[in-house]
Amino acid sequence: MVARVLISLLFAVASSAWGGQPRQLCLSCHPVHYAERGGCSGCHLGNPAAARKNIAHAGLRGGKYARFTLGNTVQNKESEQLLEQLACRRCHVSGGRGNRLAVSLDAAAARRTADELALSIRHPVANMPDFALREEQITTLVNAVLADSRGRHGDEGAPVKVHFTTAGTQKKDVFSTKCGSCHRLLSQRLAALGTGGIGPNLSGLLSPWYPKTFRNGEVWNSKNLALWLKNPRAVRPEARMLPVPLTVAELKELEALLVVSEVVK
Ligand code: HEC
Ligand code: HEC
Ligand code: HEC
Ligand code: HEC
Repeated sequence: MVARVLISLLFAVASSAWGGQPRQLCLSCHPVHYAERGGCSGCHLGNPAAARKNIAHAGLRGGKYARFTLGNTVQNKESEQLLEQLACRRCHVSGGRGNRLAVSLDAAAARRTADELALSIRHPVANMPDFALREEQITTLVNAVLADSRGRHGDEGAPVKVHFTTAGTQKKDVFSTKCGSCHRLLSQRLAALGTGGIGPNLSGLLSPWYPKTFRNGEVWNSKNLALWLKNPRAVRPEARMLPVPLTVAELKELEALLVVSEVVK
């Protein structure tokens, strides 16, 4: 015990001489790397003043989640591309941009560890699509979320609705009755609607953050949605969805549910 205390005292003295940086007891167990880019905790978090591993490692960010700190690398460009491609911003704000239909990822990055963010993507809640990603892709996305949230401290915008499950309650809106058996939707007005997973999650469909999947890279707008509902196969010959005839009033109600008023571009 006495020897342990002596050893950590020695390290404390040794590392206090380390270039004016705060004490880096990490160096008592690890070699230096990326020294020119600052202290260990700038990239890995953890507690550099602790000599014991479990305390030093509290809240540690592993190397794979620290890639975003290396700046404009090919890997980091790919991270942002994957976030775009999967259109996470149709529901989340990331880097200050996106729809506020679910919690802001900038806020999540400030509150959660990288491992926790990865877990939320690996095992998403019912109202977040399961993208069935490989581990490497999840790591890539966590790096994108962390990179985007840099210099932002939490959520600057309005709170979002909490998406608790409402099993057992019968909803009577047009989405729940006509689309909800196959689709899900986070709506600004009524929060989470629908229970189906056969068709895509339609959150943010009429916003700029939804993928341009209508036809040949065209966006979804009211006109295109009406065409699709009348006859999906006239839009895409291989469509599996059958026509869903809606009255003019129903179509209007549907649009009101799909619209996102507070778009952060
Ligand atoms: C008492 C020794 C000790 C101290 C102090 C210590 N580490 Fe470690 N660290 C280890 C050991 C041993 C491992 C190997 C994996 C394990 O046992 O957790 C490790 C693993 C790691 C890893 C890899 C984790 C992973 O997920 O693969 C990182 C990153 C790391 N340490 C960073 C740090 C940083 C940053 C500090 C200072 C804040 C620090 N360590 C302080 C002993 C230490
Ligand atoms: C500029 C950011 C940065 C700094 C500063 C930094 N690291 Fe790392 N570290 C990384 C990255 C990124 C990786 C992943 C492998 C790579 O790209 O080199 C990594 C990998 C590691 C690993 C290998 C295990 C793993 O999780 O992959 C350990 C251990 C580690 N760092 C410890 C430290 C310690 C101790 C310090 C302080 C002396 C430190 N790092 C400083 C970014 C940094
Ligand atoms: C259809 C909407 C939707 C899409 C698209 C979506 N998510 Fe989510 N996500 C949610 C919901 C709902 C939650 C649970 C929190 C809430 O109710 O706001 C959530 C939670 C999260 C969390 C946990 C946040 C926390 O507070 O801990 C992370 C991380 C996350 N999502 C990342 C992503 C990433 C990365 C993508 C893109 C690959 C993505 N999400 C796409 C709806 C979505
Ligand atoms: C019986 C199941 C079913 C019902 C009910 C249903 N859909 Fe679909 N929908 C699907 C399936 C399956 C797809 C996947 C694309 C395809 O058709 O191949 C789809 C695709 C879509 C798409 C295309 C999204 C994209 O990104 O490509 C939109 C938009 C859409 N549905 C809107 C609606 C709306 C609005 C309603 C209700 C008025 C509705 N659907 C009712 C099964 C259904």
